[in-house]
Amino acid sequence: MDASQLLRSAVDAAHAAGEILREGFGTAVTSRSKEGRHNLVTEFDLRCEDTIIAMLRSATPTASFLAEESGGSDNDDSLTWVIDPLDGTVNFAHGIPIFCVSIAATVNGVPVCGVIHNPLLNETFTATSGGGAFLNGAKLQVSPTATLNDAILVTGFPYNVDENPQHCIEQFSAIVSKGLPVRRLGSAALDLAYTAAGRFDGFWEVALHAWDMAAGVLLVQEAGGTVTHYEGRPFRLGHDSIIATNGLIHGELVNILTSVDR
Ligand code: IPD
Ligand code: CA
Ligand code: CA
Repeated sequence: MDASQLLRSAVDAAHAAGEILREGFGTAVTSRSKEGRHNLVTEFDLRCEDTIIAMLRSATPTASFLAEESGGSDNDDSLTWVIDPLDGTVNFAHGIPIFCVSIAATVNGVPVCGVIHNPLLNETFTATSGGGAFLNGAKLQVSPTATLNDAILVTGFPYNVDENPQHCIEQFSAIVSKGLPVRRLGSAALDLAYTAAGRFDGFWEVALHAWDMAAGVLLVQEAGGTVTHYEGRPFRLGHDSIIATNGLIHGELVNILTSVDR
């Protein structure tokens, strides 16, 4: 199967999961904590993941899976589906309408196609490797913002923010104290999709998992942006810091984040 055929299967699965989320949003959602007090899982994370895996397994019977709620691994060179069935679970559980489904196909840890679907706004962001990035079929391009001073940024905090991994609190403070507008949506996948769409100029975060980033990284790259780790090293899934920008402000953001880290 080529990347565009894989993408079609991923979009079908993301839309099916999106329908489950759209119907469940605003109902009495029951959630429980996992790996930490504020890291929630709801019945909808599980139902969506089951639906996505069943659909993708039937389309690609030999593929492997790495999915947030059921685990797996993306280390081999076979086709692996990397799935976040509900990114923004805390928002969803609290009736805040900012969440999505994120699905990527990877080969040897590199995304070859990805979809991020926001069921409430009916926005479906898609990308294939070398084939560009799209929002509901319209081509995406990162923003033309030339300097950090003119940028609007987005970030997120891991569930273990109190342990201050990789100095995330000091880094946030260094950027906010420059007077820049910084948003925190609570969905890393949407942060990346919005960066690809030029709504944000840049995004940074630590302690994310492959399923939070796989589809969004490809979207940003295919929309003409740059994605690295904090030190500016080329991005690989499985290493947890990420800076994703329009490319033009990348160096300035790397400099600030690494100056705090030293
Ligand atoms: C979370 C969201 C959030 C990010 C957290 C993630 P979840 O994913 O992407 O924006 O700050 O680190 O774990 O738990 O809603 O799938
Ligand atoms: Ca997530
Ligand atoms: Ca999730």
